[in-house]
Amino acid sequence: MTVERDLAAAGAAIVRAAFEVHGQRYARITARARRHFERADWLAGQRDSARRLDLYGECIAEALPRLHERLGALAADPDAWHAIRDAYALAVAERGDAELAETFYNSCARRMLKIVGVDPRLEFLGLGERNAPGGASGRTGFDAPDAAGLVTDEVAVTFPRDGDLAQLVRHVLEDGGFSVPWDDIDGDARRVADRIRAAVDVRRVRAIELARPVFFRGKAAYRVGRLLTDGAAVPLLIAFRNPFGRVIVDAVLTTEDEVSIVFSFSRSYFFVRWERPRELVAYLRAIMPRKPVSELYTAIGWHRHGKTELYRSLLRHLVASDDRFEIAPGQRGMVMCVFTLPSFDVVFKVIRDRFEPPKTVTHAEVREKYRLVFRHDRAGRLVDAQQFEEMEFRRERFAPELLAQLLELASESVHLRGDTVVLRHLYTERRLQPLDLYLRQAPHEAAHEAVIDYGQVLRDLAASNIFPGDMLLKNFGVSRHGRLIFYDYDELAPLSECRFRELPHSSDDGDESAGEPWYYVGERDIFPEEFRTFLGLRGELLATFLAHHEELLGVAFWHRMQAQHARGEVPDIYPYRTARRLRRDGGTAPAGGTPEESTR
Ligand SMILES: Nc1ncnc2c1ncn2[C@@H]1O[C@H](COP(=O)(O)OP(=O)(O)O)[C@@H](O)[C@H]1O
Ligand SMILES: [Mg+2]
Repeated sequence: MTVERDLAAAGAAIVRAAFEVHGQRYARITARARRHFERADWLAGQRDSARRLDLYGECIAEALPRLHERLGALAADPDAWHAIRDAYALAVAERGDAELAETFYNSCARRMLKIVGVDPRLEFLGLGERNAPGGASGRTGFDAPDAAGLVTDEVAVTFPRDGDLAQLVRHVLEDGGFSVPWDDIDGDARRVADRIRAAVDVRRVRAIELARPVFFRGKAAYRVGRLLTDGAAVPLLIAFRNPFGRVIVDAVLTTEDEVSIVFSFSRSYFFVRWERPRELVAYLRAIMPRKPVSELYTAIGWHRHGKTELYRSLLRHLVASDDRFEIAPGQRGMVMCVFTLPSFDVVFKVIRDRFEPPKTVTHAEVREKYRLVFRHDRAGRLVDAQQFEEMEFRRERFAPELLAQLLELASESVHLRGDTVVLRHLYTERRLQPLDLYLRQAPHEAAHEAVIDYGQVLRDLAASNIFPGDMLLKNFGVSRHGRLIFYDYDELAPLSECRFRELPHSSDDGDESAGEPWYYVGERDIFPEEFRTFLGLRGELLATFLAHHEELLGVAFWHRMQAQHARGEVPDIYPYRTARRLRRDGGTAPAGGTPEESTR
């Protein structure tokens, strides 16, 4: 059946208009980040952060009824959509953000047509359709490092050196264009120059190159780029803060790993404006070649396209590999069935049909928790999860015991259609090493560091108003940078909704009856004294934990954090080590008495 040109053009125009509306709303919110930073209005920043994440679904939801109305009987007709796709492709081809436009189209088409798997006739696959900022499949299963050639003068600005390094740095700092006065720009320039001197042979520094846009997130602003030296390009990230109505440089990072941690999949997305995201991603990739393209798109706020890139890299990887999906290492979940492809750094989580006791949550609640995490500040401690619907893979790629487990325990989400495994709903996350497994084989020092970081996770989450709930070791993972990250969300809750209580001392009341607790335990009642048992730490590791974090086992710490949130304060969380901070006063007082820091 041939579809009228008009109809195809009209369908394409509706999708395009919805995409443009999304772009406008997105840009408006993103642009406000600078103002929030300058006014130190952190709560407004948090609201915008959540608000911006809702836009995509909203704009799709607005487009669907229009499409139904205009297309009428052809609304779910594949031929019609084939023609609409072609019309749309022409309309968006010249856009600087064409890849985002295609992802948006795919979202609409999938919803209208209820596509299972992918349909190459109806969707944009992006597979080599255009110069994507990635390459072929690499070791980790993501795109190979390759972006050096893609850096353009447009996305980055170069500040050539002409003499004194501190002078050059001062020039760079001024370029941020903040409307708030500097606290001590000369001092900051000097401190930054000192750090650079400590990191590279300063005589060889020819220039500083920075991505043009400023990156905003939480209570900080960042510039990211490279030190161009005679020999090589060294990553450079400058973190700015506005602690008392004056801008300070809080930290300087000069290694790929440190910069990568700032761009982690366990943090909220940046607010950064750039018309051609592909260029920005390519530039970031040149600085962090190990970061998957998908995570970079996500990090700069385009999480839907990040998801598209992840899916594409998985498809490419499946073609280039022959290992099978397997049950993920570690303890089996009571709520989730978790599997992985050994050669690909991702886990797939499917919600089980029934949960093992004592879990009392429902499916809807589990999804709601994942959504809460998606919209909340992840503080560098909660893994980002992508939600997928109607994925399909060839059956032969599944290890038999995994397939049997999925069909038995998660039959509402997984079924077979001939030789195809259809997954109706799942989450993907970066694969981490479960902490319980890690502690079993980690060298002494690494194990102790992990235990210290474990306590720090609880503190960082508390600072972002989150209580993780199920804090057993198996629910934390270790990243490739050795950072601990939490991933089990079904019992997670806002800290402000929890009730931290001391265990009543039964002997005082003499009213203890055997078995059940004799005191009332509400759903949100939490007894920090009990954590000691939950932790599952013994001997030296427990001693290390207590030496650093004993206060977490009392109610006072938690009440203090709750009070802070109740006052509307937004505590500081730094995506770098304290030793990396330039001003030990943490920017809590204006300069003057600032201790000059020389240690590293
Ligand atoms: N991101 C991840 N990386 C590696 N392993 C994971 C990840 N998420 C979950 N797992 C593994 O799967 C198990 C169950 O997942 P979890 O999210 O804790 O679900 P449940 O709520 O069912 O316990 C974990 O104990 C761990 O072994
Ligand atoms: Mg778990």
